[in-house]
Amino acid sequence: MLPVLLLIVSRWLPVSMQLKTPVHVLPGLPVRLVPIAPEREGALTAKNRKRIMPDLLTEPSAPDPLYEANLYCNTPGVAERSMEGHAPHNFKLLSVQVMIRHGDRYPLYAIPKTKRPDIDCVLEPDRDPSHPNLADFISHMTKGSEAQMDGTLSSLPRYPSHSLCEMGELTQTGVVQHLYNGQILRENYLKKHKLLTKDWTAKQVYIESTGKSRTLQSGLALLYSFLPGFDWKKISVKHQWSSIFCSGHCDCPMRNHYLEEEQRRQYSYRIKNAQLEKTYIDMAKVVGVPTKQLRASNPIDSLLCHFCHNVTFPCTKNGCINIEHFKTIKAHQIEDERERHEKQLYYKYALLATYPLLNQTVSRMQRISEGKKAEAFALYSAHDVTLSPVLSAIGLTEARFPRFAARLVFELWQNTDKPQDHYVRILYNGEDLTFQTSFCREQERRSSRPLCPLSKFVNFVKREMFSALNSTSYYDACRQKMF
Ligand SMILES: *[C@@H]1O[C@H](CO)[C@@H](O)[C@H](O)[C@H]1NC(C)=O
Ligand SMILES: *[C@@H]1O[C@H](CO)[C@@H](O)[C@H](O)[C@H]1NC(C)=O
Ligand SMILES: *[C@@H]1O[C@H](CO)[C@@H](O)[C@H](O)[C@H]1NC(C)=O
Repeated sequence: MLPVLLLIVSRWLPVSMQLKTPVHVLPGLPVRLVPIAPEREGALTAKNRKRIMPDLLTEPSAPDPLYEANLYCNTPGVAERSMEGHAPHNFKLLSVQVMIRHGDRYPLYAIPKTKRPDIDCVLEPDRDPSHPNLADFISHMTKGSEAQMDGTLSSLPRYPSHSLCEMGELTQTGVVQHLYNGQILRENYLKKHKLLTKDWTAKQVYIESTGKSRTLQSGLALLYSFLPGFDWKKISVKHQWSSIFCSGHCDCPMRNHYLEEEQRRQYSYRIKNAQLEKTYIDMAKVVGVPTKQLRASNPIDSLLCHFCHNVTFPCTKNGCINIEHFKTIKAHQIEDERERHEKQLYYKYALLATYPLLNQTVSRMQRISEGKKAEAFALYSAHDVTLSPVLSAIGLTEARFPRFAARLVFELWQNTDKPQDHYVRILYNGEDLTFQTSFCREQERRSSRPLCPLSKFVNFVKREMFSALNSTSYYDACRQKMF
């Protein structure tokens, strides 16, 4: 069954990481490493310039594992510029659909025979990182018994609360990251564009979350900053059991086939890396367990937590795990992302994995563009294994692997001078990537069509996603003869 398979995916693809690709933008830079962040609007020019003359002062010439790790942590602290809600004045915003990855979390795996990182998951507004809404958020969450939550969601805690975090628990950093996300969306969509009015109704807001406390809590944190003090009676949260949000359309043998092929590719790429193998052997000696056991404990997941929280790496009587170990594994992940992209197996997996979700996204846009009722705001609270295939499927090949609290936004606009004309914009972590998607590449930008026509997105989801697989429908693409 699928849930099991996907669990294996997140373990197998040690992906929990960024992409290596040529850095075209530096999203919200955390405080520690970090060179100067170019302005987001300068992103495309910065990228074009790079091909001619790399700017060695602001961008590492080769992917730098520590720099990438810092972006992945997404430590709150630097104000972000975001391009959400930007359009010519004669355009009207009709709907916004947001897919998020949960915020910073405690590791899912422990490194054997070492002390777990000491991180406090009790929310404490006086402790950094914090957010002006944090105290009110906690108080609002204690009153949430009137919300309608599907199935198991209602039994989950609405905010983290353990003095030593539990495995996979959302941390205060994770809550704060989403309070900031919600604040950005509020500024851009409610204050500027009045996407929802004060008396918004339950029918205008759609929320769906996987059954993990970290996704539910991340969604609620974003929602709280987006709609401060919201009426719990208007909130209903749908439970999604599948981490790719395939709902009633999960049966797809070819998707599993491509995923298995991708896992084989990943395995053979890993064993070719002698330095990586040496690093695992080294670390296993430090810890005092067989190399295989050490590798199976997915140490990078835990080390990233140490790194993001500025906690020293674990030591034993045999020595310490050190930053060179960390850099080697991280660098391999970056190279692996590049190879994964070249080999295209993951792309084929991604097309099939994300069709149900993209179909839902595009269907909602179509209904609204036809004047039918549909939610003006939709939030899908999800995982790296949800967002990563969406980025791949829509052709955002230069986008980094989803960091903590990553957000991917689909906006629907109407040209008020020509009410029949509808357009989409696609933004990732506040950056406008509309013209980097496979269905609306940059060269198609025209001054007469400043955004991407909805019809292009519709055509992509209804047809092009399958023609890329030599097929004409989801059903057929899922059941092509295996060879
Ligand atoms: C990280 O920890 C070290 C040593 O505990 C400390 O000196 C340093 O200021 C910390 N850095 C940050 C950014 O918190
Ligand atoms: C695609 O969306 C349409 C309209 O909402 C729905 O009827 C159909 O079942 C969906 N198909 C899949 C495979 O998700
Ligand atoms: C589609 O068909 C072409 C030509 O026969 C082939 O080269 C390509 O690999 C096929 N793609 C898939 C996804 O099967």
